[in-house]
Amino acid sequence: MNLVVIGAQWGDEGKGKIVDFISDQADVIVRFSGGANAGHTIVHDDVTYKLHLIPSGVLYPETRVVLGTGMVIDLDALFEELEELERSGISCAGRVLVSDRAHVVLPRYKQEDIELDRNRINPIGTTGRGIGIAYAVKSARDGVRIVDLFDDTFLEDLGSEDRKYIYSRRDRVREMVIDLSAYMNGVRNENVLLEGAQGALLDLDLGTYPYVSSGYSCAAGAALGGGIGPKKIDRVLGVCKAYSTRVGNGPFPSEFRGDDTTLGDEIREIGREYGVTTGRARRVGYLDLVALRYICRTNSIESIALTHLDVYDAVAAPRVCIAYELDDETLDDFPSSRTALENARPVTRTLEGWNTPIGSISSYDALPDAARAYVDFVEKFIDTPVDIVSVGYSREQTIVRRNPWTE
Ligand code: GDP
Ligand code: IMO
Ligand code: MG
Repeated sequence: MNLVVIGAQWGDEGKGKIVDFISDQADVIVRFSGGANAGHTIVHDDVTYKLHLIPSGVLYPETRVVLGTGMVIDLDALFEELEELERSGISCAGRVLVSDRAHVVLPRYKQEDIELDRNRINPIGTTGRGIGIAYAVKSARDGVRIVDLFDDTFLEDLGSEDRKYIYSRRDRVREMVIDLSAYMNGVRNENVLLEGAQGALLDLDLGTYPYVSSGYSCAAGAALGGGIGPKKIDRVLGVCKAYSTRVGNGPFPSEFRGDDTTLGDEIREIGREYGVTTGRARRVGYLDLVALRYICRTNSIESIALTHLDVYDAVAAPRVCIAYELDDETLDDFPSSRTALENARPVTRTLEGWNTPIGSISSYDALPDAARAYVDFVEKFIDTPVDIVSVGYSREQTIVRRNPWTE
C-alpha cells in the first residue's frame, strides 16, 4: 500500500511524530519534497531527533528510507545528519537511499537566497537554506541533479568552485544513489509511506503564494517526487494541529490578534512553538477550518491526524475559525488573492474547554466529552474523519481510532 502523509497547514504540524509513529508498519519511506528547510522532530525513549532531510521512519532499523526526486539536497547537511544519527546509534548504512533525479543545493544558493529575500519589498522570511534558488535553477533547467555528480563530461562545463565542491563529496553519495522509479517498481506487497515536508498551504501552487516554499508539498507532489504514477497513491493522511501556526511572513487570517495576543503567547510556550530549523518563534492562531477544508479538497485527504490537542488543556473556551469576514462580506471558501487573505478576519465559533490534562489518555472514549466534541466539530466541518489524535510529543501519546494502513 502507498500511503501519503502531508502537512495540512503551514508546516510543523507534527509530521515527524506521526510519520515515526505509523512507520512501525512501513517498509519503505520516501520523502518527496523540500530540503533542509524542513525540521521534523521525533521524541523516542527521551531522546529528541531533529531531522531535516532524512525521512522520519529512519529510527526503525528495518526500514529503507529514500530522499526522493522532488527534493533539493544540501550534501553537507545530509552528511551531518547521517553522522548525527550514527552517533545516536541509528545505523544508516545501506538503507538511506537518494533518487538520482533529485537536485543538489550548491553552497552559493544559500547566500543568494538570503540576499534575494533581504532585497524583497515584502520579504518571505525564508529559512535561508537555498531552497527557492535550487527550485528556480531547476525550473530554468540549469540545475545539478544527483546523477550529474558522476557525469564528468557535464561537470567540465561547471565553474571551478562548484566542481571542487562536487568532486570532494560525490564519493560519499555514490553508494546511496538509486533510480527511484525503477526502485519503486520493484517494491511489491510492501507498505510505502510517502512523507511530505512543509505543509499544503506552503505548496507552490496551492499555498498562500507568494508566501510559500518553492516545492510541491501537496499530495500530488508525492507521485512526482516519490517516483510513482498518480494512480498508485492509495490513501492520503493530512496532519493538522488543533490550532494553527506559521513561521515567516505571509497572510494568516486566524492569527491571534488584539485581546487574543496573550493567549497566543501562552500557547507558544505550552506548545514550544519555536522553529526546528531556524529557532524563530512561530506565529499562532485559531484552527482555521476554512483553510483546512480547502486543503482536504485539493489534496484528496481521506483522514486527519489531529496533533497538539493537549496544548488546549488549559484553554477555557477554545475557538475555531469557520468563515472569514472581508469588506462586510462573509467568505466561506479560501480566497486566492493575497490582498483578500491579508485583510480577511476570522469568524469564530467558541467551543467548550476540557480544563484537564489529556496527555496520558490512550483511548478515544476516555477523552473528556468536550475534547471529543472539539474533534467532532472539526470532522463535521471538513467532512473528513480524524483517525489519529495526538496528545503529546512522544510515541505513546497517540490515540488511533482507525489505522491509516487499512484501505
Ligand atoms: P513537523 O515539521 O511537522 O515534523 O513538526 P515539528 O517537529 O517542526 O514541530 C512539531 C513540534 O510539536 C515538535 O516539537 C514535536 O515534538 C511536537 N509535537 C508533535 N505532536 C505533538 C502533540 O500532539 N502535542 C504536543 N504538545 N507536542 C507535539
Ligand atoms: P516542516 O517540514 C514551517 C517556510 C519558511 C518561509 C517559507 C519559505 O518542518 O514543516 P523556504 O526556505 O522554504 O524558501 O521558506 O516557508 N517553511 C516552513 N515553515 N515548516 C517547514 O517545514 C517549512 N519549510 C519552509 O518559514 O516562510
Ligand atoms: Mg517542522
